[in-house]
Amino acid sequence: RRVLVLGGPNLGRLGSREPGIYGTTSYAELAETCRSLGKELGLDVEVRRSDDEAELIHWLHEAADLALPVVLNPAAFTHYSYALRDAVAQRTAPLIEVHLSNPHAREPFRHRSVISPVASGTIAGLGTDSYLLALRSLAGPAPRAGA
Ligand code: DQA
Repeated sequence: RRVLVLGGPNLGRLGSREPGIYGTTSYAELAETCRSLGKELGLDVEVRRSDDEAELIHWLHEAADLALPVVLNPAAFTHYSYALRDAVAQRTAPLIEVHLSNPHAREPFRHRSVISPVASGTIAGLGTDSYLLALRSLAGPAPRAGA
């Protein structure tokens, strides 16, 4: 099963960007961790990232057309992009909004997400684990022996 993991602006700078807030893991490392958990869970995880709002919107259209589940970190677009929100609203499969930091514990402008109302769920504040928990949720319950 294919899953898209999409990231927005400035996330390519992870590792060196405000490490006190975002940690020291690079985006390449985060992407690799997502792909390897995906393999364990039987998911074909494809990680894409862009600083460009239009590119993210086109990827969300592709996800809607192909009914692909999505893990989305909209980064700063979270707080003001109605265009991204409208693209997310077209989803035909689950979409989980993720954040590395906890936006609610930060500046007031980060307290509002225009994406959350149209997402299946939101996971924030757990660093890389926000992504890994989202992938586990999309994979569904782990198969049990004898089940
Ligand atoms: C972020 C939180 C946003 O407020 C911020 O603009 C980001 C990253 C996070 O993952 O914690 O770029 O989405």
